[in-house]
Amino acid sequence: MNQQRRHVLIRSAATATVAALGLPALSTRAGSEERAAADFDVHIELHAVQDSVAIRPGAQTRVWRYQGKLLRGDASALDAWAGNYLGPIIRVRRGQRVRIDLINELPESTIIHWHGQHLPDDMDGHPRHAIAPGERYVYDFTVVNRAGSYWFHPHPHGRTGKQVYFGLAGLFLVSDDEEAALDLPTGPHDLPLVIQDRTFDNNNQFVYLSERAAGAASQGPEHGMMDHGMMGGAMGGMGGMGQMMARMMGVLGDQILVNGRPGASLKVERRPHRLRLFNASNTRMYKLAWHDRSPLTVIGTDGGLLAVPLQRDYVMLSPAERIDLWVDFGRWPAGTDLTLQSLAFEGGTEMSGMRGADLLPDGSPFTVLELHVRGDAKRSATPPPHRLSRLQRPQPRAAVNFNRPKVFNLTMGMMVWGINGVGFDMLGASPLETVQLGTHEVWEFRNDAASGMMGMTMPHSMHVHGLQFRVIGRSVAGEFLRHYGTVKAGFVDEGWKDTVLVMPGERVRLLLGFADYPGLFPYHCHMLEHEDSGLMRNYLVKA
Ligand code: C2O
Ligand code: CU
Repeated sequence: MNQQRRHVLIRSAATATVAALGLPALSTRAGSEERAAADFDVHIELHAVQDSVAIRPGAQTRVWRYQGKLLRGDASALDAWAGNYLGPIIRVRRGQRVRIDLINELPESTIIHWHGQHLPDDMDGHPRHAIAPGERYVYDFTVVNRAGSYWFHPHPHGRTGKQVYFGLAGLFLVSDDEEAALDLPTGPHDLPLVIQDRTFDNNNQFVYLSERAAGAASQGPEHGMMDHGMMGGAMGGMGGMGQMMARMMGVLGDQILVNGRPGASLKVERRPHRLRLFNASNTRMYKLAWHDRSPLTVIGTDGGLLAVPLQRDYVMLSPAERIDLWVDFGRWPAGTDLTLQSLAFEGGTEMSGMRGADLLPDGSPFTVLELHVRGDAKRSATPPPHRLSRLQRPQPRAAVNFNRPKVFNLTMGMMVWGINGVGFDMLGASPLETVQLGTHEVWEFRNDAASGMMGMTMPHSMHVHGLQFRVIGRSVAGEFLRHYGTVKAGFVDEGWKDTVLVMPGERVRLLLGFADYPGLFPYHCHMLEHEDSGLMRNYLVKA
């Protein structure tokens, strides 16, 4: 633990309360700012700023984004993604010690969560660590995760959905020796594809819930942006009730963006590529397939490479999930225009009367990305490596509660989401949510609890901070089987994951290990409006 104590925190919220809970105390050590720069392999400054970028023809779109500065490390460690609200892309190797300074230049508080990383409690970006405008939070950690496609995004309580929607999200790509030995496609042939949906107003501005709906007063330059973001006009008189519904059910956009571009298209060479698919949408899920229905070759999930490549006719990607594909575009003749599509499915987020949801309902089919195959080399397609990684089978018997899974019902009370009927509590964790450091447990997320509102059920994308888990079982109730049949062949449960789709009527069983770091970590639905309105709780890892 000594190593974890070396980090620097300029400001830490709720330190005393946390200490009272028996959590590791947060250290404020201005002195260690002087720590030799040589201690870090990579040092990056991330400014969270307000900006404008050209997304569509005409007016620029006002966005919030991260602006990165590489202060130390290999030039490849920071890729700015010019002209984009997304990013930057941070590239690190397992074992590297990283310092990242978040500088908040937004008009409201924020904090960064390193989605999928195994980190000490105060490096994880819990909402209690949110910093006010003008403040700085210094992250200092060693990357212990396997190679994989991770990402980062804001995590202030009640405002994550809005901050991500307005543009804040970047990629955190980890490499390691095991992956390097495989000779997978690199450089321009290793393509991250970040999929999002947005609704624009007539003036090219993002349309999101109003500040007021977020339960906070608007202020300053922010005000104009939020006026554009008001759904009042878009929802034609649904007013407060419509706001409330969208805030609770989730926000769907009617335009699909890939890497920050609507109507995205790419030119690709006739050779193998690695496509890293990220669902960075607030609520929308995707059922991804090639236009000609030829199978997708999956090589990785949230937590890195699978043991062996797998074939799927389509893959489901719910908010925050990642899938790495291998594709050799040599499979198609030069000149082919192909598309990555999202196919129709049932059991998605159903909302009527909401802009975006109306024009492009969840589960409706659409094109995600167009690809133009070029190059005339006469060659046949190369398959991926036979073996990708030494991935152990999950050992559920290692769990302390193997025969008695902990049950977490995803519930909706009076227009309020919760877990086992209780919403988020900043510093709280129940006995059920308390685990022992060094143990494994089996948890079951149940999405079949009687719902309090019109018998309505919704899919949920459940994420657990601080660790990677294994999915060890799924079951679904009879009445839900029909729509479940339209998605179930698209799950990739064979690898490490940090986010899992739990369909309406479904129960998903996970095996989780709590190693190295005691502390208080969130777990929640990654449909960001659900998270922001209560479908989030903490779990407490006790030393
Ligand atoms: Cu990617 Cu708590 O979230
Ligand atoms: Cu949800």
